[in-house]
Amino acid sequence: MALPEWDGELTSVRHDPDTGAWFVIGVHSTRLGPASGGTRAMVYDGVADAVADARRLAGAMTSKMAAAGLPMGGGKSVIALPAPRAELDDATWHRILHRHAANLNLLGGNYTTGPDVGTSAADMDVLATLTPHVFGRSAAAGGPGSSAPMTALGVFAAIEVGVAEAGLDGVEGLRVLVQGLGAVGADVARLAARAGGKLIVTDVDPARCTAAADELGAEVIDTGDVLSRACDVLVPCATGGLLSPATAATVPCTVIAGAANNLLTDDAAAEVLRRRGITYAPDFVANAGGAIHLVGREVLGWDAAEVTARTRAVGDTLAGIFADARAHDISTVAAAGRAAARTLADGPRPTSTAGAQR
Ligand code: NAI
Ligand code: PHE
Repeated sequence: MALPEWDGELTSVRHDPDTGAWFVIGVHSTRLGPASGGTRAMVYDGVADAVADARRLAGAMTSKMAAAGLPMGGGKSVIALPAPRAELDDATWHRILHRHAANLNLLGGNYTTGPDVGTSAADMDVLATLTPHVFGRSAAAGGPGSSAPMTALGVFAAIEVGVAEAGLDGVEGLRVLVQGLGAVGADVARLAARAGGKLIVTDVDPARCTAAADELGAEVIDTGDVLSRACDVLVPCATGGLLSPATAATVPCTVIAGAANNLLTDDAAAEVLRRRGITYAPDFVANAGGAIHLVGREVLGWDAAEVTARTRAVGDTLAGIFADARAHDISTVAAAGRAAARTLADGPRPTSTAGAQR
């Protein structure tokens, strides 16, 4: 069997026999600064899957930090749970957080975590009692609070710029299909509804669909119909891997802009979208608002207004990427990758604001 390849710096893999959980931390790059990226806690098919996910997600964080101009590297934690999070009792979850904190401490500040799928600001509060290497504590615990609202704001900026790039006249009246109505997706749905979009939604949790139907008048569709339902803007806000070269060849939409990390199974899917004339906002550019919020507030000392302005500027970054892709007949992912690679090649830049790292 061929050995896997990875261009990252370090992978830490540990097991806790008491809970059955496996802990993977991928540090992809510290070229621009200490690595950072959230903690994803979910059930995996096996340890190899968890390792592969952590490494790929860590790589995406390197690109995200570079594309957003943040002075951080890319990393990610994956906790492969013994059972779905909702089925774990409090004592087990607490022990898992304690083990995770011990692993973070072993890395000695080369990697700082934050929230991601399966973890929240409340979990960051617990971790922060055990390790200093945590972003995203709740406001009550002295942190900047959830990264989700800024992620949603950045995704909405990406939708607006994507719509303009596709030659459409604003979001009003467009069919906007949101997959995943969690912390980010529910907020993006609200922003799109406020802009006059006709909402179509889906989530594995029926209660979240009902809430969106009641609040926003959204039409609810089955989760299995997300790739076959015609829409103008597809907004993936669940987990990654939705678009492969095969599904990209048939997905019936004009613009794709969402929050889900690693939305494409591989870069070939981006090329398929380009050839079909679908405007794709690369995930690691569109979803940078959360990173801007956490790093801006906790490392760079930005206030909320500065974070909001920098998050809205995700739209400007994307407009530049779209223009480069058009000019060179390359996919938007290739254009975004080139921009991130240039930033990485240049190396760390002096930051304009005094650091406030804990
Ligand atoms: P979340 O866990 O709050 O929400 C995810 C939602 O997707 C849940 O409602 C879940 O039920 C739903 N879902 C899962 N599988 C689904 C499926 N097959 N079909 C339909 N719905 C499904 O997570 P959050 O924080 O909203 O993040 C969403 C995505 O955005 C993730 O991929 C995350 O990595 C990414 N992201 C999140 C950021 C943040 O600040 N929270 C920042 C950048 C990226
Ligand atoms: N997990 C989120 C992301 O993928 C938020 C986050 C950003 C967490 C940076 C930690 C550090 O962007």
